[in-house]
Amino acid sequence: MKPIALITGASGLIGGYLVRSASRWVPDWDVRAVTRNEVDLTDRARVQRLWDRHRPDLVIHCAALSRTGLCEQDPAQARLINVEATRLLAGLARDVPFIFLSTDQVFDGAKGQYVETDAIHPLNVYGHTKAEAEQVVFENPAHAVVRIALTAGTSPTRDRSFVEDMVRSAAKGAKLTLFTDEFRCPMPAGALVRALWEFGVQRRPGLYHLGGHERLSRWEIGELVAARFPELRSSIRPGSVADYHGPPRPPDLSMRSEKIQALLSFPLPGFRQWLTENPSESGDLWDYPAAR
Ligand SMILES: NC(=O)c1ccc[n+]([C@@H]2O[C@H](COP(=O)([O-])OP(=O)(O)OC[C@H]3O[C@@H](n4cnc5c(N)ncnc54)[C@H](OP(=O)(O)O)[C@@H]3O)[C@@H](O)[C@H]2O)c1
Repeated sequence: MKPIALITGASGLIGGYLVRSASRWVPDWDVRAVTRNEVDLTDRARVQRLWDRHRPDLVIHCAALSRTGLCEQDPAQARLINVEATRLLAGLARDVPFIFLSTDQVFDGAKGQYVETDAIHPLNVYGHTKAEAEQVVFENPAHAVVRIALTAGTSPTRDRSFVEDMVRSAAKGAKLTLFTDEFRCPMPAGALVRALWEFGVQRRPGLYHLGGHERLSRWEIGELVAARFPELRSSIRPGSVADYHGPPRPPDLSMRSEKIQALLSFPLPGFRQWLTENPSESGDLWDYPAAR
């Protein structure tokens, strides 16, 4: 019998890619995809039944309230999903490897190039709930936290990734101001889930950063995306955080990923490099072509 991997948030961006790519990266595993339709992870009794039904050998916990705006609007709901559902699942998974997907937004962005030993200081509700959930996960020394970066991909519902957000906004005629002085290490979802699978089956505990190899400004990211989505070209314009008025935004959330890189069979790509090496107009730009 194959070992069982349970993927929560399977109808979301990253959970979706994990499930779709499993036969390619972990053919020896049996993958069970959990969606909110099947089980609301804040419902203790249903989560217990889910656990008893699958008895997984590995959990990759992707389910979350991941939109920063929704977390600001409803901090209690954000905490329920991001912290309490994580506590419940991690408790049930006490004897098996558990991987919690956290975020670069646990940092305040003042420093950039963050490594795993840097102090955290979240600025928004989303970052606070993720930071709290990390501590919950660390209560079990066999469990792992992987902080991931801004991820480009095509979600099952076509409305989850930052690229999908840009395209939808542009279609409505909105002008998008992209900051030249706000930095991230964006990752294509295909490479992200390949790394997560390779890491996951090694059953390693602890804290890891997992971002793209290249630190880019929001404006540089936007220009690269617009080169492949021409409908964006007239909608994006450069701007500066200095001219922005609103809730605090972490300026530089770039992360260094050497610790997890040392465990992987392939180099984590830079965003520019990925787009250069994936010229194909067919298929999913953010995933590996089938033959590669
Ligand atoms: N995408 C990024 O750029 C990024 C960056 C850093 C960290 N992360 C983290 O990576 C993880 C995956 O992100 P993602 O982009 O795939 O997020 P996503 O697209 O928003 O997916 C989250 C999933 O969680 C599910 N969910 C929410 N509440 C639930 C509940 N009460 N019970 C069961 N399922 C529930 C959602 O179900 P519905 O489909 O029904 O809404 C959705 O499928 C998250 O922890 C996120 O915080 C993502």
